[in-house]
Amino acid sequence: MVGISNEKQLPGDGVVRLTFFHSGDAAALRDMDADAEHRRRFEFPEKFVASLAHSQRVISDWTNQRQEGPFLFAVRAVSNGELLGGCEIRLLADHVANLSYWTVPQHRARGVASRAVALASQIARAQLDVKRIEIVVDPDNFASRRVAMHNGFRAVGMRNDRILHVKDMSILPVDPPNKANSTIFRNVATVRGRIG
Ligand SMILES: CC(C)(COP(=O)(O)OP(=O)(O)OC[C@H]1O[C@@H](n2cnc3c(N)ncnc32)[C@H](O)[C@@H]1OP(=O)(O)O)[C@@H](O)C(=O)NCCC(=O)NCCS
Repeated sequence: MVGISNEKQLPGDGVVRLTFFHSGDAAALRDMDADAEHRRRFEFPEKFVASLAHSQRVISDWTNQRQEGPFLFAVRAVSNGELLGGCEIRLLADHVANLSYWTVPQHRARGVASRAVALASQIARAQLDVKRIEIVVDPDNFASRRVAMHNGFRAVGMRNDRILHVKDMSILPVDPPNKANSTIFRNVATVRGRIG
């Protein structure tokens, strides 16, 4: 059993931090569900109607699946706790995981998703025993491709008409959460000095 139950074990990089989603995030998630780009990339059914009740149910489901996954994390500003985005680690077979992410529209293009992927990758490796992470991206989703690239993922081919990016985690050192001078955090801070 590889679940994640302790929010205090979730990492940050001094600018953003990962937490669980809480019921107070429901309104922000509802607004997120109304964003056209978000809906397109996550293939929402056309008839889907965003609502507070739906978002509350979703957060409740995410809370209940912290032991078996998929594992959902909120991305928050360290400065004020504001919800900036989210990410999901979905375990596949053989220590492989799929990673997906999104950023609240008004916080895009400021390095949020790139930071989130770095932190989620740490969780995957250190807490979920993941050896390889995959990110699949629509060919025309340039922002998402940049996020993968910034985090050292390699585009290795196509899967279901999407570009498959992979990163081998077994060759990286394990850094404890919040260690400011760790290799991964230092790289992220170097590339992404744009928010905070
Ligand atoms: C893709 C997404 C997560 C990127 O989030 P973000 O927080 O803006 O990402 P970052 O700020 O780390 O940006 C990474 C790069 O993309 C660029 N970028 C961000 N939004 C962009 C846009 N709309 N058009 C072009 N480039 C964009 C950034 O400027 C940055 O560029 P750089 O490589 O020159 O530094 C966000 O656009 C989103 O939530 N999209 C909808 C959901 C989605 O597509 N998820 C990914 C599924 S795989």
